Amino acid sequence: MAKRKAMIAGNWKMHTTVVDGCQLAVDVAKFCTGFEDREVLIAPPFTILSEVSHVVKETEILIGSQNVCWEEKGAFTGEISPAMVKDAGGTVAIVGHSERRQIFAESDDLVNRRLKGGLASGLLMIFCIGETLKERDDGRAFAVLADQLRKGLHGISPKSMEKVVVAYEPVWAIGTGKTATKEQAQETHAFIRGFLEEIYEKNVAEQTRILYGGSVKPDNVDALMSQADIDGALVGGAALDAESFGRIINFTL
Ligand code: PGA
Repeated sequence: MAKRKAMIAGNWKMHTTVVDGCQLAVDVAKFCTGFEDREVLIAPPFTILSEVSHVVKETEILIGSQNVCWEEKGAFTGEISPAMVKDAGGTVAIVGHSERRQIFAESDDLVNRRLKGGLASGLLMIFCIGETLKERDDGRAFAVLADQLRKGLHGISPKSMEKVVVAYEPVWAIGTGKTATKEQAQETHAFIRGFLEEIYEKNVAEQTRILYGGSVKPDNVDALMSQADIDGALVGGAALDAESFGRIINFTL
């Protein structure tokens, strides 16, 4: 099987306005030079998707939105449609981030609808899953992840899985400076891949990229990326600093 292409994604969350966001994109672009084995994505806030897309137009950086609705238009106050993401220059959307699930009470069913809507419009979708510390301490991490996978991927065909990237983000590691060890992350990614094989088939499991997220930093990215089932990183805090994100993009094995 051909090696899965790595992806390093920067989730800017609710940070940056036009001037600093565009500057950050310019600075990040300096670290992206003709990669063949990896893709780089940035997900700025909705308000500056267009401007940042414009800034990176001549580069290889992909633009993604941090969420997406399942409808193309209509009475959905506060939402962004797949058509709007594409109109702003985006080709990717993140769904199911734990901040959406925990702070904004997004259910597995809602995440599933978002995922299907984005796929129907041709977006590449980053589908996030992750367990809380209590769930891990109680020995339920894999059961929780299996449940999120089963519900989140409900009704999504093996063919559509070509456009789905799974991001494993243990809630206890997000923004806490506490990273899963490379062994913990590898073990969990292997579980996720095995589960994908169970609900789909071996091919789907082998081709699906699984990113790790949760306090990925310049000093831990190489170790994480050296693991067999870790195909990339979804980066929050460190993506807001061009030097740090640049180093993460340029991980070495
Ligand atoms: P962090 O965030 O890198 O700041 O932990 C990761 C994420 O939420 O995607």
